[in-house]
Amino acid sequence: MFDPESVRPLFPALAQPVNGLPAIFFDAPGGTQVPQPVLNAMHNYLIQSNANAGGAFLTSQRSDAILKIAHTAVADLLNCAPDEVIFGANMTTLTFAMSRAIGRTLQAGDEIIVTRLDHDANVAPWQALAEQGAVIRTVDIDVEDCTLDMADFTAQLNERTRLIAVGYASNAVGTINDIPAIVRLARQVGAWVYVDAVHYAPHGLIDVRALDCDFLACSAYKFFAPHIGCVYGKREHLQALQPYKVRPAKDAVPYRWETGTLNHEGIAGTTAAIDYLAHLVPPPHRSRRAALAATWQLLTAYERQLSEHLIRGLLALPGLTFYGIREPERFAQRTPTVAFRLDQASPRQIAEHLAQHGIFTWDGNYYALSLTERLGVEQSGGMLRVGLAHYNTHEEIDALLHALRQLTG
Ligand SMILES: Cc1ncc(COP(=O)(O)O)c(C=O)c1O
Repeated sequence: MFDPESVRPLFPALAQPVNGLPAIFFDAPGGTQVPQPVLNAMHNYLIQSNANAGGAFLTSQRSDAILKIAHTAVADLLNCAPDEVIFGANMTTLTFAMSRAIGRTLQAGDEIIVTRLDHDANVAPWQALAEQGAVIRTVDIDVEDCTLDMADFTAQLNERTRLIAVGYASNAVGTINDIPAIVRLARQVGAWVYVDAVHYAPHGLIDVRALDCDFLACSAYKFFAPHIGCVYGKREHLQALQPYKVRPAKDAVPYRWETGTLNHEGIAGTTAAIDYLAHLVPPPHRSRRAALAATWQLLTAYERQLSEHLIRGLLALPGLTFYGIREPERFAQRTPTVAFRLDQASPRQIAEHLAQHGIFTWDGNYYALSLTERLGVEQSGGMLRVGLAHYNTHEEIDALLHALRQLTG
């Protein structure tokens, strides 16, 4: 079983005190903390390799090598080829770039499906295509457990559907969607699938080949790396689509999609974060990909224990309304990210109370706007979100429950 104490000393941020108490980071879905090897990689990049790409001199050549290595690292993380990985500012910016490029291929009346469970970064870029005549359809959820309504999915799909934009997991309530089933539906009508894996990436192994999705977007800062976005696209799509690009930039894949100068130090840190994950299970491993698979097996089991402890404790609190999957036997269908409300205090008041205790949580909609609207909580402060990562502990959850009991009595 995974012992969080084996990694916590590697994360300097976790040692920060707040009001004399150790800080408790339950804000992972908004961004995870970074381990020392990531800090070292960024630091070293800026000292030894800091330059623009493509030059004839040492630091530029080192930069080129670091970018190449990072494409290979993300390819191992996602199980794709290095040239099927695009780096960019963040997932939202990359998704807007993708939607604009895909929009160039659409005819008026072509349809796109989005969902009520998604972060707006996988909704608004597609809704923007309505300006050029695309029809945007929205799949509903089952409000009882915040899962996608698969019957509605089937009902919304038709021969005009060109793309389905869907999250791998909900950053608000933790639901993991059945992506293979959604890809199968899409294939019936020849539609593409654009998966937002930002929230799933720090909680499980991603295999774009097995999923057979067309695109999959991640934010490195959600998987222990700096603020970088990356998108996987099937090579045939990255080659056929026309990105908006400057003329001197290379036309080859993936460079044609990597607009402007990238955040090289952040990209160096992203490789280090993937290597950090790959080293959590001792060698030997056949490959970095095999090591990552072993890591996620270990971490997923640990995070499931944390979820059980947290959700059991929350459900025992008087006046608590829980949103999402709550039965332990269904925990393979959720990440350790939970959302709830209390009768006794607004989400903001709860977050402020917890902050006083050095416990960092989010309140509001965390940009999962269609979901908070559907749940009827958008006008009253949304929900309180507690999001765990593998560096969190059972004791931290006990501290949270203790602080919440001060509010619920
Ligand atoms: C599920 C999900 N998708 C997309 C995003 C947007 O990512 P980025 O900040 O990299 O644009 C987030 C950020 O919170 C998210 O949680």
